[in-house]
Amino acid sequence: MGRKVGIVGAGAVGATAAYTLAMLGTCDEIVLFDIAEGVAKGKAIDIAQATYYAPQDTLITAAEEPSDIKDCDIVIVTAGVPRKGDMTRADLLMINAKIIKQVVTNIMENSPNAIIISVSNPLDVMTYVIKQITGWPSNRIVGLAGALDGSRMAYQIKKLTGLSNRQTGSLVIGDHGENMIPLPHKVHVGDVPLTELIDQSEMEGIIERTRFGGAEIVKHLGTSGYYGPGRAITHMVEAILNDNKTVVSSSVILEGQYGYDNVAVGVPVVLGKNGVEKVIELDLDAETKEKFALSVSSIKDGIKILQDNNFFEEK
Ligand code: 2OP
Repeated sequence: MGRKVGIVGAGAVGATAAYTLAMLGTCDEIVLFDIAEGVAKGKAIDIAQATYYAPQDTLITAAEEPSDIKDCDIVIVTAGVPRKGDMTRADLLMINAKIIKQVVTNIMENSPNAIIISVSNPLDVMTYVIKQITGWPSNRIVGLAGALDGSRMAYQIKKLTGLSNRQTGSLVIGDHGENMIPLPHKVHVGDVPLTELIDQSEMEGIIERTRFGGAEIVKHLGTSGYYGPGRAITHMVEAILNDNKTVVSSSVILEGQYGYDNVAVGVPVVLGKNGVEKVIELDLDAETKEKFALSVSSIKDGIKILQDNNFFEEK
């Protein structure tokens, strides 16, 4: 496999992913695309200059045309607008889905063998949109979800226990949104179950703070985080390019697993050179099953808004 990564959307998340990939020497080439051409160009030059101090050379360029996202092994899609003013959830969904449709059509033409990492929000619905538009096998479409939400859960565990981050597992399933399901009682710190280290009310605290981990950043910063997302995206790229067989929760298309199909939702998967190499089916208890059903139905509500607006029929 080659090591060329395209990034569509050179905003804070896309650019931070590019910078992190370059600083870690994860790939050989990065192409940044943004509808604001100067933004992609300026950031590409800035990051390229920073590679002087990186562990290896990475060629970083800005795409002038969407067709410059050519022959990429992985394309990261971060394009889209945030919700603002009096925009309803449905308005936002339609606007972003249309942007994604255009982006994905270009990817199909110019990087027909790529694996797509979907990052735009609402994350799970957009991952589903990419599957519907491409018609590609589901293993080649994977959404950023648990890699980020899991890092937020690990941060909470470390804050509470003071124990090494390196030793902390993390596991978050469900949607990358209000009904996300952090599962701290399933993880270990080192070889010790977390349940042996903290009590139930502390566990509840971790769940709440993980669920609102993204919103907490927005509260302070006025905008979403980007270092966490940038690093989490890089974790997924590393797994795929290095064929690491990494277990990490991601938003993927379910085809019967967990009893659902025709939806994208966060579950643990194995990431390797083929993208999603396996969906791991956890044995969920009754309460978690119920939460998972709620999560899936909230994503299906979003998909239904697009269907009701004929999004999937229109060219
Ligand atoms: C986040 O969780 C908004 O998806 C973004 O920070």
